[in-house]
This record gives sequence, structure tokens and C-alpha cells, in this order.
Amino acid sequence: MKISNAGAPQNALVIGASGGIGNAFVAALCDLMPGDAVNALSRSGDGFDVTDEKSIIAAAEQFASDGQSFDLIFNAAGTLEPAGEGPEKSFDALSPEVMQAAFATNTIGPALVLKHFAPLLSKDQRSVFATLSARVGSIGDNRLGGWMSYRSSKAALNQIVRCASIEFARSHRQSVIVALHPGTIETALTKKYAKGRYTDTSEGAARSMISVLQYLTPKDTGKFFDYAGKEILW
Ligand SMILES: NC(=O)c1ccc[n+]([C@@H]2O[C@H](COP(=O)([O-])OP(=O)(O)OC[C@H]3O[C@@H](n4cnc5c(N)ncnc54)[C@H](OP(=O)(O)O)[C@@H]3O)[C@@H](O)[C@H]2O)c1
Repeated sequence: MKISNAGAPQNALVIGASGGIGNAFVAALCDLMPGDAVNALSRSGDGFDVTDEKSIIAAAEQFASDGQSFDLIFNAAGTLEPAGEGPEKSFDALSPEVMQAAFATNTIGPALVLKHFAPLLSKDQRSVFATLSARVGSIGDNRLGGWMSYRSSKAALNQIVRCASIEFARSHRQSVIVALHPGTIETALTKKYAKGRYTDTSEGAARSMISVLQYLTPKDTGKFFDYAGKEILW
């Protein structure tokens, strides 16, 4: 799929840029806009760890002191195997340590990223903050059970997105803050679990999500969309 240049961001930041989807998102943005306007942060590359607020503050302060603002911030950091443990099939496998680790990366991390980076969204034009959630975080769509730590950390992330959308609409009237489901994408995160049932490549998912984000307006803030722009039940 070719993405239209219309509405392309002018200054973007991708967090979790070392991951399968994050990396493809950076590449897709670089096809659309000058490479030096695409900023990237990752844990393995820059020490940007969403579970360490100090590292988030340091990066946000650096951008602020450079006078930098963004019309697109995309968070692709997340985990399905917190503390090295795969998703639980049943409650007897539930571990408080693993669950806490899932929330630290998938919920509290993005909340802290919103705390320190949403103020860097451009105020004088439409600006977008999107974070990768997952369809399995939908409570209304949960028919199979299992994966309690991952599902609930993403459901809680969706609530964080909703809260942020309401609060930041007051200071950033043209902001669009959304949760996205990328599809089932072949990356390190899914290789043990998707069993070949992929909906797209990471490159395709990145292009689809960029297209969706280009057409969202402030009326869409606080919602949960899939890679085709279809709204997902909370
Ligand atoms: N792939 C799918 O089918 C799928 C489906 C639904 C939702 N998602 C969501 O999409 C997101 C990206 O998934 P992916 O498939 O691209 O996974 P991935 O290839 O495993 O990449 C995960 C990324 O998260 C980063 N990360 C993990 N813990 C971090 C931390 N504490 N601080 C900062 N960065 C951290 C990793 O950084 P380092 O490698 O630098 O440590 C890496 O960049 C996740 O939130 C996932 O839940 C994916």
C-alpha cells in the first residue's frame, strides 16, 4: 500500500523504535518525510526505558530544551512476555510478579510517556499521540479468556489513553490521542504464539496505521482503532 503524502507529519517521534513494528514505522515515516524530522528512541539503542521515569524525563527535557515539538508521537514499546514469562492460559498460572511486570511496561510506561511527552505535542496544529494497544485488551471482545496479564495491562492502557485524551484536549485543542491495534504481525513478540496466522507484515502494518492516523481528527481523540481505521469495542 502506498501512503499519501497529504497530511504527512512534519516532526515525528517513534518510541520503541528497535521493535518489529516500531522499526517498520520509522522506515515508513522516512519514506514520507525528511529523515531528520523522524526522531526515534529505544531501550536497546538509547537506554529509553518506559519502566524508568528518569530516562523518560531526561529524553523529554532534552527535546524541550532543543525547542522541539511533535505533530506525531507513536509509542511501539510493549511486551507479551514480561519477566520472560509467556501469557497465562489459566488463573493457576497467574504470578503477581509477572503481572506487575506486564503493567509496568504496557500500562504505567505509556502513562509516564504521556505525562512527559504529551506536553511536547504541537499546540498550533493537529497533533497525534498513538500508542500500540492490542485487540485482546478489549473487554467487550474477550470471548476466549486467558492471557490475563497482557489483556488487562492493555485494557488499562486503553483507559489511560481515554483519560489523557480528555485532559490534553484542554491544553492541546487539536490533539488526537488514540490506542491502536496493529493486526497480528510477525515480530519477535508473536513468533511463538501467532502460529502463522498473520494479518500483515510489520511494514504493511506500519503503512496502514500511518494512513489511519493521517485521517483522524480531534473528534476521534480518546478512541481505539484497528490498522484499517475501524473502531474497536473497549
Ligand atoms: N506484533 C503483533 O502482532 C502485535 C499485536 C497486537 C499488539 N502489539 C503491540 O505492539 C507493540 C510492539 O510489538 P512488536 O510486535 O513490535 O514487538 P517487538 O518486536 O517485541 O518490540 C517490542 C519493543 O518494545 C520495546 N520495549 C520492551 N520493553 C521496554 C521497556 N521497558 N522500555 C522501552 N522499550 C521497551 C523493545 O525495546 P528493546 O528491544 O530495545 O528492548 C522493542 O522495541 C507492543 O505493545 C505489542 O503489545 C503487537
